[in-house]
Amino acid sequence: MFKDLEDFIKPGSEEDLLVKQLDLSRLPRHVAIIMDGNGRWAKKRKLPRIEGHRVGSKSVREVIETCARLRIEFLTLYAFSKENWKRPKKEVATLWRLLEEYLKKEDKVLVKNQFRLKVIGEIGDIPLSVRKELVRVEELTKNNKRLTLVLALNYGGRDEIVDAVKNILKEKDMDINTLDEDKFSRYLYTAQFPDPDLLIRTSGEFRVSNFLLWQIAYSEIWITEVFWPDFRKKQLLQALVDYQKRERRFGDIHPPEDHA
Ligand code: FPP
Repeated sequence: MFKDLEDFIKPGSEEDLLVKQLDLSRLPRHVAIIMDGNGRWAKKRKLPRIEGHRVGSKSVREVIETCARLRIEFLTLYAFSKENWKRPKKEVATLWRLLEEYLKKEDKVLVKNQFRLKVIGEIGDIPLSVRKELVRVEELTKNNKRLTLVLALNYGGRDEIVDAVKNILKEKDMDINTLDEDKFSRYLYTAQFPDPDLLIRTSGEFRVSNFLLWQIAYSEIWITEVFWPDFRKKQLLQALVDYQKRERRFGDIHPPEDHA
């Protein structure tokens, strides 16, 4: 077995069987996740919604660790959308508090494991104490090379595209005829990251919810009924196994040698 997975995957477990089906040399470089269903997970158990978010943050930890052990290079998590502000004040405050606690507690883990933290979204509107932590941990981890953990916070895909257009229009020296997809991508929040190969959404919803609209043009989409607090390494490994069974043609035919 892959050395980093020893002690993490129990021999003979369902996870072990899934790992054995994986071609570790053909894993996605970038996995993006729409974490959904914390509220419904809690409701099903007659618990407050906040409890769903608390257990959901354990899934966050396990998914980060699994990606790192598999040597996946980029993991993007949709942790707070622009629409999330519409929720009750107390729930919004809890989400930010959980993130702040995560950053305060896990910063050493991020450093020790060579993880790099990056934030995409409109950081200016995030509560100051959280923003300070984000800036601190981004700075602390900026030279790390193993896993880049991208947190989408106060993020909206359409806003990101509008911001890119605004910034392009400010470029006095740009010849607009030279603008192409590649150049446009460099004005997005994700300029330094490859596009996601795999987009996962939990809780059985078939929507992209304004997430990475430009970047998921060719991503494989994998949806599970499982609510986010129950999404752990087993579900991630299943998504990866299914991903590897798919053919990514990027609009071409397969096999490409069949071109006349
Ligand atoms: C979706 O469930 C989840 C969120 C809006 C937030 C995700 C946040 C966490 C897991 C907390 C901690 C985050 C980090 C990065 C440490 P929902 O509330 O929309 O569920 P519902 O659709 O069932 O109501």
